[in-house]
Amino acid sequence: MTTTSHSPYQAEHQRATATPELFWQQQAAKLNWYKTPHQILQQQDKHHYHWFSDGVLNTAYLALDSHIEQGRGEQTALIYDSPVSNSQQRFTYRELRDAVAQFAGVLKALGVGKGDRVVIYMPMIPQAAIAMLAVARLGAVHSVVFGGFSAHELALRIDDAQPKVVVSASCGIEISKLIAYKPLLDDAIVKAQHKPDYCVIYQRPQLLASMQSGRDLDWQQAVSKAEPAGCVPVKATDPLYILYTSGTTGKPKGVVRDNGGHAVALNYSMQAVYNAKPGDVFWAASDVGWVVGHSYIVYGPLIAGCTSVLYEGKPVFTPDAGAFWRVCAQYKVNILFAAPTAFRAIRKEDPDAALQQYDLSALRAIFVAGERLDPATYQWVHQKLGKPVIDHWWQTETGWPIAANPAGLELMNAKPGSSTVPVPGFNVHILNDSGKVLRTNEQGYIALKLPLPPGCLTTIWGNDERFVAGYLETFDGYYASGDGGYIDDDGYLFVMGRTDDVINVAGHRLSTGEMEQIVANHPAVAECCVIGIHEPIKGQQPLALLLIKNGITVDETILEAELVAMVREEIGALACFKKAIIVKRLPKTRSGKILRKLLRQIADAAQYSIPSTIDDPASVAEIAQLMADRGLINQP
Ligand code: COA
Ligand code: AMP
Repeated sequence: MTTTSHSPYQAEHQRATATPELFWQQQAAKLNWYKTPHQILQQQDKHHYHWFSDGVLNTAYLALDSHIEQGRGEQTALIYDSPVSNSQQRFTYRELRDAVAQFAGVLKALGVGKGDRVVIYMPMIPQAAIAMLAVARLGAVHSVVFGGFSAHELALRIDDAQPKVVVSASCGIEISKLIAYKPLLDDAIVKAQHKPDYCVIYQRPQLLASMQSGRDLDWQQAVSKAEPAGCVPVKATDPLYILYTSGTTGKPKGVVRDNGGHAVALNYSMQAVYNAKPGDVFWAASDVGWVVGHSYIVYGPLIAGCTSVLYEGKPVFTPDAGAFWRVCAQYKVNILFAAPTAFRAIRKEDPDAALQQYDLSALRAIFVAGERLDPATYQWVHQKLGKPVIDHWWQTETGWPIAANPAGLELMNAKPGSSTVPVPGFNVHILNDSGKVLRTNEQGYIALKLPLPPGCLTTIWGNDERFVAGYLETFDGYYASGDGGYIDDDGYLFVMGRTDDVINVAGHRLSTGEMEQIVANHPAVAECCVIGIHEPIKGQQPLALLLIKNGITVDETILEAELVAMVREEIGALACFKKAIIVKRLPKTRSGKILRKLLRQIADAAQYSIPSTIDDPASVAEIAQLMADRGLINQP
């Protein structure tokens, strides 16, 4: 091993593995609970564990009020930077707490109480974070829906979460394009079976929304009349939020996060993984609609007493490829977190990264996640910035990093392509199909030995069977991550990609199964298969292979355009669904299963062998030729 058994990382990982209850009790003691937990870990049954079950706390109190009580009230808690609306705003901890308490008062007056759900469908404005924290303050449960999702996707989430109230804004701004959110919300409510009692709309001056009398309230007006609400104590095991993520089917999964484990894990990660201290400026260039935004724009930095940057813009075009460096210099960002795709986009626009005009001396490290950090991008960022570039691997389900270079414990030598080592608390194994632990350097399924540490999902909202069947029954005693990879002789983890039908487009997790359902609805399509293929900036993009119904003649270009429109309408523009090809046959096993892995290998120009179970071997060469003709095969 590169680390010796006496290395700080190694020692801490061993402690967390050997005596998890003691280890996490010590971490829990760092927080300001209303009632400190004594029951640290309880096993309910073979699959369910509970952390800190007798603890009582409030997450918004830990994020705001507790810091004010400790004298941090005048420190900046949140910086809003929006090149797209040409505005910047700072909130001290006291100002943010007051805004949150005031908005919590609005929600409380609308009947929102402990356990009630509130859906938040917002662009990247401070009111999104304020709404999340206000819901947490009331002990209610938020479910943030990424602003790029369509009305259909929003309706699915409204039906599943059954919110009393939806909080939204009149519009988002995508570079220079205004996205009217309110009509999408109205449409979603028409489509959904469940009807929220109220919608609270933040009116942005760029585009005002029309309001439905009796149902819709104007944020600013409601806040001006509200009484501030206090923090409601909740049990550690009470849910803080539901965050929907893509699975292998069309129906998104509502990942449930509890209050206690979440606060303890995030606080630990801020110190052990990110090496962040109170007062540090932390910038996660993500969106509050994703787990990164929940954990490291809102809760993690605030619980840890940092200053968090909330950025409404892109890495490029707002206004140029220097946007990230401008923000880092202007606010003296200490820790930057972004997706590899953002750096690939910057490199494409400005390969020489003209950094001289920016003072990046405050920046200590750059963390990347959301998709695999390809070695070329790692080298580029590292060379340009001359700072540690830390790839770390995690998922919506875990809520915090499973593997990382633990900067707060020990900065280890980086290996390009590896997310370094399992974070203390995570017990990572590589398994084969039958659940046997593989040796080092052997590639297989990445699985986490139970119990998972605090902060990970506790169930799927309203569908515990899906939680058990989807994650816990594949390998006995393990959580199946859905990712494949290997561990090398030095104990470094290499995450190579999903082993299921989930793809990652520009750091956004999407289900090819869901796209297949939409494409299959086209009247000309008899059968289809959607796979993720390589895309130089976004990492992956979807490609549909289509079998056309007998007797129908179609123009491939027109059909492709129609399918693109259907996927945009049903999922949203963020799916980046742009390519579809008509094939004569799809390679299938004799039992009729489409050989998706084989198709992915063809598109990746990877080595493949044609399985003996294939029904129609000639289909493989045919499809390879079609993909090559359309320039869809990866040119490494
Ligand atoms: N609201 C509405 N629409 C949105 C949206 C939002 N919040 N986010 C994206 N979209 C739309 C875009 O407008 C675009 O629509 P278009 O096809 O009509 O132009 C489409 O979804 C695709 O958007 P995006 O993936 O942002 O592509 P892009 O080409 O505009 O930008 C990047 C490319 C690489 C700059 C951009 O994808 C990026 O910044 N990625 C990083 C994402 C990230 O941080 N992920 C981390 C999660 S941890
Ligand atoms: P999400 O739930 O949207 O955060 O997406 C999680 C998925 O993104 C993981 O299951 C991985 O497939 C991928 N992912 C996230 N971070 C990394 C990383 N550092 N390296 C490789 N894949 C990653």
